[in-house]
Amino acid sequence: MSPGRKILGLFLVGIFIGTVTGQTGCDPYIGKWVLDSAYPLYNSSECPFIRKEYDCIKYGRPDRRYLQFRWQPLHCDLPRFDGEEFLKRFREKKIMFVGDSISINQWESLLCMLHAALPDSTVIQQSNETFRSYTFKEYGTSVMLCLNHYLVDIEEEDIGRVLKLDSLKSGDLWKEMDVLIFNTWLWWNRRQPGQPWDYIQIGNQRVKDMDRMKAFEHALRTWAKWVDSEVDTHKTTLFFQGISPTHYNGKDWNEQGVKNCGNETSPVAGSTYPGGLPAASFTLQKVLNGISNPVHLINITTLSQLRKDAHPGTYSGLREMDCIHWCIAGLPDAWNQLLYAALIS
Ligand SMILES: *[C@@H]1O[C@H](CO)[C@@H](O)[C@H](O)[C@H]1NC(C)=O
Ligand SMILES: *[C@@H]1O[C@H](CO)[C@@H](O)[C@H](O)[C@H]1NC(C)=O
Ligand SMILES: *[C@@H]1O[C@H](CO)[C@@H](O)[C@H](O)[C@H]1NC(C)=O
Ligand SMILES: *[C@@H]1O[C@H](CO)[C@@H](O)[C@H](O)[C@H]1NC(C)=O
Repeated sequence: MSPGRKILGLFLVGIFIGTVTGQTGCDPYIGKWVLDSAYPLYNSSECPFIRKEYDCIKYGRPDRRYLQFRWQPLHCDLPRFDGEEFLKRFREKKIMFVGDSISINQWESLLCMLHAALPDSTVIQQSNETFRSYTFKEYGTSVMLCLNHYLVDIEEEDIGRVLKLDSLKSGDLWKEMDVLIFNTWLWWNRRQPGQPWDYIQIGNQRVKDMDRMKAFEHALRTWAKWVDSEVDTHKTTLFFQGISPTHYNGKDWNEQGVKNCGNETSPVAGSTYPGGLPAASFTLQKVLNGISNPVHLINITTLSQLRKDAHPGTYSGLREMDCIHWCIAGLPDAWNQLLYAALIS
């Protein structure tokens, strides 16, 4: 899309349901998935922001039931997502997702939700090497993505690419934002081929490899120090997306022998996931507990674990079995409803 190009949307019937409540003391992340005929919140065929990896219907996903689930907290209701209200509240503000392809998942979903609310809004695209941004012109609200797999730096040196667990140099751009939603995890377990670094550096020590969970924790602590020393939380509201789960082991959802999400068309019933929380979520929690500045954890882990049906499987532009990312429309819309609930409360 070129700057100033008007995104022409047909009229979308965005029927949002749910009750606006001001209840306190309710953990919105404890709940269950319920069928709701008013869902999905938008028609993915009419959203111009979905990359081929997440556009499941376009790539032939035959079932539709996965689109019809609404997240219902056990002790309260989520506020109805109101895209126009969102843009009004964040008039002239900048909202940025910082992280890996899971951040892209939530970013594109939010763009679709806002676009569905204002299909005739002029959307201006800007991008450079470090970020991508869409600005809803009428409100001046920018919804941005900074693709950054590790949050800490990777630098080219004589010996090769070095992942520096103590170094975070990208923060100056992030600090200018009004809302930041961070995420990192997926790439910490990545090995060759496709691992984008050759060495890890901690302090003055360089190693070829190390315990990946320890490396993840160390980098998170570097990020946490940055949050406490550099971010003005009167200006910037901070979020961290919880660990996004994968579905490659049916044992986790009591289907022994199942090796991927490819045949899943229903969520796990109820509020608990047989497989329990992934180890990385405990590491993340430990680091977040040590931060002084307020960082809200969008605790997506369990509610997403329940959604073994919400991945692309083979229905994406990649044509490979993908049980890591999520279809849009779909689960990431619920993450954004939870983000919205936290932002307006
Ligand atoms: C996230 O939510 C799950 C499910 O409700 C809960 O078990 C877990 O303790 C929560 N994590 C945090 C850090 O609050
Ligand atoms: C979604 O939009 C497409 C393109 O406008 C349309 O063909 C299709 O019928 C719509 N689907 C639903 C469920 O409304
Ligand atoms: C991208 O644009 C931002 C904001 O204008 C700027 O701070 C950043 O340095 C730019 N990055 C590159 C690589 O040009
Ligand atoms: C789905 O189930 C069918 C029939 O049981 C089976 O043939 C197929 O291999 C399964 N697909 C996957 C991806 O597990």
